[in-house]
Amino acid sequence: MTSILARYRQQLRNTLGDWFPRTTLFLKGELPTKGEPRPGSQKNAGRAKARKRQSEPKAATQGTAVEIPVAQPPSATPSPASIYGPALTVKRSQEQRMKRRVEQAVAQGIIQPPSPEQWKMILARAPATRIFAGAGSGKTTTLVLRVVFMLCHIEIPREQLTVISFTKASCEELRVQLKRVLAFWGVPLDDDSARELVRTFHSAMAQLARTELRATQWFEQLSVQSKGEEEPDNGMLAGATLNEGQRQLLLQAYENCYREEAGFRRRVHLLLELAAPNEEEPPGTPPLQPFVLNGERQPQALPELFYGQASFAETLGLRVGSIKSSQLECSTRDRIFLEAMQQFWRYFGKLLKEQRLITFNTAFAVLTDRLDKKPSRALIARLQPFTHLLIDEFQDISPQIVLWLQQVQRRLAEEKVAPSLMAIGDDWQSIYGWRGSSPELFIHFDRWFPGQTPSQTLMLGTNYRSSPDIVADGERILTQVRHKQPKKTQAFRVADDEGHGVKVVPQFDIARQLASLLGEIEAQRTYAAARERPERCAVMVMSRLNAPLKAINEQLGRQPGVRTCTIHRAKGLQAEVAIVLDDGQPQQPHPLRNALYAASGHFQQSYDDAMADEALRLSYVAVTRGVSRVLWYTRQPRGAAAILMS
Ligand SMILES: Nc1ncnc2c1ncn2[C@@H]1O[C@H](COP(=O)(O)OP(=O)(O)OP(=O)(O)O)[C@@H](O)[C@H]1O
Ligand SMILES: [Mg+2]
Repeated sequence: MTSILARYRQQLRNTLGDWFPRTTLFLKGELPTKGEPRPGSQKNAGRAKARKRQSEPKAATQGTAVEIPVAQPPSATPSPASIYGPALTVKRSQEQRMKRRVEQAVAQGIIQPPSPEQWKMILARAPATRIFAGAGSGKTTTLVLRVVFMLCHIEIPREQLTVISFTKASCEELRVQLKRVLAFWGVPLDDDSARELVRTFHSAMAQLARTELRATQWFEQLSVQSKGEEEPDNGMLAGATLNEGQRQLLLQAYENCYREEAGFRRRVHLLLELAAPNEEEPPGTPPLQPFVLNGERQPQALPELFYGQASFAETLGLRVGSIKSSQLECSTRDRIFLEAMQQFWRYFGKLLKEQRLITFNTAFAVLTDRLDKKPSRALIARLQPFTHLLIDEFQDISPQIVLWLQQVQRRLAEEKVAPSLMAIGDDWQSIYGWRGSSPELFIHFDRWFPGQTPSQTLMLGTNYRSSPDIVADGERILTQVRHKQPKKTQAFRVADDEGHGVKVVPQFDIARQLASLLGEIEAQRTYAAARERPERCAVMVMSRLNAPLKAINEQLGRQPGVRTCTIHRAKGLQAEVAIVLDDGQPQQPHPLRNALYAASGHFQQSYDDAMADEALRLSYVAVTRGVSRVLWYTRQPRGAAAILMS
């Protein structure tokens, strides 16, 4: 009787939830922003029918209910109950002591005095806090003081705290700062402890995977000399270009699949526009001519192309094998590609297993799965370092990582250890959409990380890095970004006569004018060295592509104070003078990724719209690296350069 009643209640709840989703969420205290699907929910994923999204986002919850053709990751099952409970216990006396100590540190030149906004972040009590802040607003600097407050004043044990940053380089920078500041607090941090405390996402996950999955060799790190020893960098940075070992493995999976699967052979021949394979004879060598997938810039061999697209689907939280190609809205050609990719992916997985290799994506998915189902006591015990998480550059997180984090902290909440999460980021600087990340996850944070009360949202509105002209130019670029959190930044620095905002240098052709560019770099280096307080990096030369940087490096060699790097690598860094080399490539629609994006059920935007926004955000990241001057070299002003010249 009780069970019939319970079932009836559940059915009623489900029906009400279906018909009045917003009211239901409101009653549960998890109301999403207007017109948004609730992430992590199978139902919503189901409704987020695999259809082409309009550029004007529509509420997925308002869409027709259609079963999603894709098996959702485990945590996309029943609606997440709240993870976060009451506020952290902080005594007034602890805050006072922190303030006094900070005053002393400022007096001794160890740190800059935090602004009132930054203080709010340092002393935040909410268990789930989101810091929205523009470039150069002191997010990373303040994060260091937040860690100090947690470790030294509210006595959170170091074993329960992890700081996550985006790349190995930014982790290293954070470790240096933390060591320096903690030393002043009389809590020295040795190298090993610093490495345990500050990690990339992939290194944090690898720490679990090593013991739980006995995974020691990553496919993404196949080339690394010190096998299994090297700390994993962010997996989104890895694998952009595959090395020989990785390519060989992909090729072998392709050959195995071609040899054994008639359907795969047929599809490959269709894609490459070859005559149908002769099934009377044993299969020959698989064809490897480059294939052009709609939306991809370069023709590529199929094994690498399969790898790239399948990895992308996985970072969206999809299981490649479970994608129902027939229900995706894409062309027949793309559908054939997808089906061949699914077959290939099975063989690739088999091969990895045989060679005792694992991909980051698989490890994230398997761990998420285990945490969602019945995790062992040993696994739960290993979650201790993730009790209090502080995550920098949160805007570049992918659904797959969000789903993993959600499970980690949910499990901890179930163990009654009261987890906390501070997410620090700038949706304006989200630049890894092409690898599956999305600022939407940060913008709609509460629906992934629900608490008894909504998360606390703080803003840091002052840009301490760049001159007012640069700040204004950066924001001008962003006016055309469609999906963003509105925020206003003010420059802390005052304008000076020698500096300037973005100067666009049009009709620049690096092949012909490299010498003049080198001369300019030298002139800017001299300028930067003569500044009253010289920056550690005088001139940063950035490009979206590696080729122009390579050309410069070959001529320039190593120059003190000059750094050349891709815009992606420049994230979080700064220089007196920023030099950008970018022609603003025109956008290409990517139908397959649009279909996968829609199938994931996580986003309002289509992939194409997200990429159009991302191109501008990438320019914003580049421009906001500059302290007092920015130069933008371009063949013809397009994209951000055109906006800046208008
Ligand atoms: N309260 C402050 N007073 C003076 N300078 C500050 C203050 N806070 C930060 N800064 C300085 O501002 C610059 C940018 O700081 P930081 O790198 O922490 O910003 P960020 O928000 O993390 O930047 P990004 O968005 O590029 O990651 C640094 O030079 C830092 O020393
Ligand atoms: Mg930063």
